[in-house]
Amino acid sequence: MIDKVKKEFAKRFGPGAALYTSPGRVNLIGEHTDYNMGFVLPGAVDKGIYAAIKPASGGVSHLYSVDYDSEVSVDLAGDVLPKPQWAKYIYGVAQEMAKRGRKVPAIDATFGGNVPLGAGMSSSAALESTFAFAFNDMFGLGFTLAELAVIGQMTEHNYVGVKCGIMDQFISLHGRAGHVLKLDCRDLSFEYKPFDPAAAGYRVVLVDSMVKHNLSGGEYNERREQCEAGVSIIAAHNPEVKSLRDTDPATLDKYRGEMPGMVYRRCLYVVEEIGRLLDGCDDLDAGRYDAFGAKMFATHDGLSGLYNVSTPELDFIVDAARACDGVVGARLMGGGFGGCVIHLMRESVADAYLADLQVKFNARFGLTPRVIGAVISDGARRLE
Ligand code: GLA
Repeated sequence: MIDKVKKEFAKRFGPGAALYTSPGRVNLIGEHTDYNMGFVLPGAVDKGIYAAIKPASGGVSHLYSVDYDSEVSVDLAGDVLPKPQWAKYIYGVAQEMAKRGRKVPAIDATFGGNVPLGAGMSSSAALESTFAFAFNDMFGLGFTLAELAVIGQMTEHNYVGVKCGIMDQFISLHGRAGHVLKLDCRDLSFEYKPFDPAAAGYRVVLVDSMVKHNLSGGEYNERREQCEAGVSIIAAHNPEVKSLRDTDPATLDKYRGEMPGMVYRRCLYVVEEIGRLLDGCDDLDAGRYDAFGAKMFATHDGLSGLYNVSTPELDFIVDAARACDGVVGARLMGGGFGGCVIHLMRESVADAYLADLQVKFNARFGLTPRVIGAVISDGARRLE
C-alpha cells in the first residue's frame, strides 16, 4: 500500500512528498462508554491509512484516493463540501482547524489504507488522524495530539454526521506498540498499559462478521440520544449528574419508573460497562486473562441484549466462542451493527477454533468470515 500511494503521488504530482500514517484500532473493553464520559481501553493496530502529501501553490488542493481510484479538486478553506464521502473527512479536518484559527494551505495528496473497511476498526478515524497529524506537522500549526483528536471527532460530527465519541481518533494519534491505553473520556487523562497476551500463552484475534457496519445509519446517534435522555431524567433530581459516568446502577434504578424501558436498558448497559472496564483493568494488571475474558462475554451480552447493537452474525460468532474451551472471551467490537468480534483465546486452541468457526459460519450464513490479525502498534507519525 505504501508503495502504491507513493507511486501514484509521483505519477500525478512529481517528487518531494512527505509520507504520513495513522492506524486503526482495537478496543479490549469499554464500548459506547466514550460519549458517556466513561473509560475505554483501545490499542492502535498495524493497519492504517498512508498518505503522501506536499504543499501546493494556489488555493486548490488535489486529493487522490488509491482505494476508490478517485480524484477531487477542492478548496480546503472554501465553503463547498466535496462530493465523495472520503474527501469530506480531509476537508472537515481542514475546516475544523480553520475554526480554531489555523488555516491549512493547499496540498497535493494521494492516500490509501489497509484497515479492513466496515470491520469496526475505525478506518475513518485513521483517515482523519493521518491528515490532522500531517497538516499539524507540515505547517507547524501547534496543536497537541489531544486537540487533533478533538478536531477529528468534530469532523465526524459536523461533516459526516456521526456524533461519535473521542476514542477512535484519540488512540489513532496516541497509540504505542505493545500497549493499550486506558483513557478517561471525561478529562482525556490517560495511562498506557503494557499488553502482551502472547507472553502468557494467549492470542487476540478478530473475526469479521462480513456484515459491513456503517455508523452514519442513525442508530448510533439514536443510542447517544437515549443515553442523554436518561441523564436528563436523573439530573432533574441530581443536578451534579452530567453524564452516565456520574451515576451508578442503584441511582439509575431509583429513577427507572420515570424512564421509558428502552432508555433504562441503554443506561444500565453503559453504567455496568464503565464498572466492568475498571475491574477488567485490575484483571489485566494481575495477569488474570480468563477473568478479563469473562468480562468481554458480559460486555457482549449487554451490547446485544440491552444496547441492541448486535446482529445474528455477531451473536453466532460469540456463541461459538463461548462453546469452545480455551476461548476465554469474545464480544462485538466498536459501534456494532456489523463489524467484527474480538476474541481472547489460549494459543493452544486458536487454530482449531478458527478453522471450525469458519466452517460453521459458512454453513449458516453462506460466507467465510475473515480472520484479521492485529499487532498493537504505534500511533500517527511521519514515515518519510
Ligand atoms: C465508534 C465510535 C466511538 C465509540 C465506539 C463504540 O467506533 O466512533 O467513538 O463510541 O463506536 O464504543
